[in-house]
Amino acid sequence: MSAQPVSTQVVLTDSATNKSVNLPVLRGSVGPAAIDIGKLQKETGMFTYDPGFMSTASCKSAITYIDGDAGVLLYRGYPIEQLAKQSTFLETSYLLVNGELPNAQQFSDFEHLVTHHSMMHEGLKTFLHGFHYDAHPMAMLCGTIGSLAAFYHDNLDIEDADQRKMAAVRLIAKIPTIAAACYRYTIGWPIRYPRNNLEYCTRFLHMMFEVPSEPLHLPAVAAKALDLLFILHADHEQNASTSTVRMVGSTGANPYACVAAGIAALWGPAHGGANEAVLKMLDEIGSADQVGKAVERAKDKNSGFRLMGFGHRVYKNFDPRATIIREMCYQVLNDLGVHDPLLEVALKLEEAALKDPYFIERKLYPNVDFYSGLIYKALKIPKEMFTVMFAIARTSGWVAHWLEQHLTADTKIGRPRQIYTGPITREYTPISKR
Ligand code: ACO
Repeated sequence: MSAQPVSTQVVLTDSATNKSVNLPVLRGSVGPAAIDIGKLQKETGMFTYDPGFMSTASCKSAITYIDGDAGVLLYRGYPIEQLAKQSTFLETSYLLVNGELPNAQQFSDFEHLVTHHSMMHEGLKTFLHGFHYDAHPMAMLCGTIGSLAAFYHDNLDIEDADQRKMAAVRLIAKIPTIAAACYRYTIGWPIRYPRNNLEYCTRFLHMMFEVPSEPLHLPAVAAKALDLLFILHADHEQNASTSTVRMVGSTGANPYACVAAGIAALWGPAHGGANEAVLKMLDEIGSADQVGKAVERAKDKNSGFRLMGFGHRVYKNFDPRATIIREMCYQVLNDLGVHDPLLEVALKLEEAALKDPYFIERKLYPNVDFYSGLIYKALKIPKEMFTVMFAIARTSGWVAHWLEQHLTADTKIGRPRQIYTGPITREYTPISKR
């Protein structure tokens, strides 16, 4: 699928100069058309202004499609509901990276490759030990993933398709190992090596929780829930962190630097940090009878408080991932026999917000992260690790976009312009005269 100019044109006229410009309209295989403004500045001397990219498509991509009004999410054309039900995270990663579902041999080869690149370089342990004992695992993850460029510097030729693919595999394979190592460092446990006889999510849970002194017994629902969460978080088209990966990638930077930048962008509470923020908020609300007050506070613009896990830039009806994860949330709590009082707070909050005109008018619905934190908590994953979990899953999307970007002929360095609002030329005064 590639967006081609069609006969449709948009004519823009500057009323001050009466100068017009014809702009081509691009259409993808589905979704809204886009006005190609590439020649606007050259022909009119003007820029467009769109903070937050509210109306701007930054690239062409064949990876993920979202229809925010209809609540549709497709990875390479496959509905998220079907992948959530029938696929696995590793198969979905293959799909995102390669564009097609693998046959049995292709999947086995990919699984073998990912499994056999899951160890981290021993030198990384020394690197980890440089962090303060109570460092946030996202800070450690960001720094450590960025440092991989120093460990694989002889494999950083981004013009070489094989080296690009190998970097993508290394990132998908190593990020769970590094994430678990970051966590264990903060609690003073010895790092566990990845066990190749386990599949991706089970292997990660073992690296997180297994101690040398006794075997780990994992309930079946734990790896199943994690795999589902990873599928749902694997990609989401040009979100803030993926756009960051592409922006850094557009400079020709190496893939480890690009993904480290994506991790940094994901950390913010308006993006991947929301799942941690949801649990903090539920904790602060404390009990179901305090929900009314919290909803009133969220509606008061002066309070600076928002309902975390509510709202989405693209989904304005419902988040299809939230519908899937809500069901899994009940299954996990039920199978593990967890009676979490925060679930009661969450359900009351959901109910109160969904019938409140403020939230209805603004189309604010629970997003995927409203529920993911409750599942992670039930799996005994600490709050500080929630965004790290998101990063593990999103790595497959980030590398898929980075690979696609390097196959796109018209990729240019990302360089937005601005509307300058500062002082115009003025004379420098020596400090003695100021
Ligand atoms: N609680 C209360 N009010 C909200 C919320 C919320 N969670 N989200 C948006 N609003 C209000 C805004 O105040 C604004 O009101 P106004 O029109 O009266 O000024 C209106 O809804 C539109 O909000 P914007 O901030 O313009 O919406 P935008 O699309 O820019 O932001 C975002 C989307 C960042 C997700 C926002 O809804 C938010 O901050 N949500 C909470 C954080 C969160 O859950 N993030 C996770 C996103 S999903 C993900 O990354 C996987």
